[in-house]
Amino acid sequence: MSMDVRALEWTDGGLRLLDQTVLPARVEHLVVRDVDALVDAIRRLVVRGAPALGVAGAFGVAIVLRQADREGWDDAARDAAIARVREARPTAVNLAAGVDRVVPFVAKGAEAVAAEAQALLDEDVRGNRAIGRLGADWILARSADRPLRVLTHCNAGALATAGWGTALGVVRELHGRGRVEMVYADETRPLLQGSRLTAWELAQAGIPCTVQADGAAPSTILRGLADVAVIGADRIAANGDTANKIGSVGVALACAAAGIPLVVAAPWSTVDLSLPDGDGIPIEERPAAEVLTAGRVRTAPDGVAAFNPAFDVTPARLVTALVTETGVLEISAGTTPGSAAP
Ligand code: MRU
Repeated sequence: MSMDVRALEWTDGGLRLLDQTVLPARVEHLVVRDVDALVDAIRRLVVRGAPALGVAGAFGVAIVLRQADREGWDDAARDAAIARVREARPTAVNLAAGVDRVVPFVAKGAEAVAAEAQALLDEDVRGNRAIGRLGADWILARSADRPLRVLTHCNAGALATAGWGTALGVVRELHGRGRVEMVYADETRPLLQGSRLTAWELAQAGIPCTVQADGAAPSTILRGLADVAVIGADRIAANGDTANKIGSVGVALACAAAGIPLVVAAPWSTVDLSLPDGDGIPIEERPAAEVLTAGRVRTAPDGVAAFNPAFDVTPARLVTALVTETGVLEISAGTTPGSAAP
């Protein structure tokens, strides 16, 4: 079975989101019409993944303008609502960038903003296709002539973007060329984007997938069971330091120790050249309850504290290659986004 996975879509009624909090048990949609509902959906990860957040942020400005018209807001209330969307989650630079992209259209009204947001959505899908092709070319040029075992972390697929995916876009392209033996999908505690979302997407596409606990990933790599790791990114500093889902650093360290490539696949819009290195990347900390529970059942004893950073920063020296829609940068060999900016 295969279906077109679409995380978000602009409709006359508002922004239609595939509710990623209930996948894969249920395929349900939520139509967002006001700023409170959008900020809540972003914070609860109904819509998630850096490029998808960028598109949601851009359409979010159109939602704000429609609501401002309906409710007779003044410019200050409108701008405060736009700022709330922009700041709903801090790590993925795409969210703020998506909002900033459409702000120049605010004076022209909601429909002009929505048209620009749609252009961003369409560009994202085209960019992901290019990332897939370029990433597959780069990997295959350096691989044995056989189907590959690919490890990925979190979900950087169609669900995390406007369509196709970044890291999973590379996987889809490799699969289309007959070159995927197996995808190891890290389950991605605590919210299970790997086991719930990546495994679901790969199953939809008929791509072989094995889910493993996050703690298994370094061992899988050191045992020689993976040929390459491909992950997405939420923000990449000018020197190539890369923020991605918590647990990515363990994958990166194991890749370096085992001598296999760590490939980061992300659109150029995820690069933040205003930051010289990863020290300045804001790391979202999420509620303690997410790690003190499993499937909403409390697992840790009462009174125990939790540390729940949603992202980590992989140092540039551990990133073998960054694949964007414009080309491949060999980061650990010294080609940084800052030196290669288009
Ligand atoms: O907390 P999430 O689910 O939004 O985190 C998503 C990730 O870390 C992805 O790997 C990243 O955004 C890249 S998505 C193409």
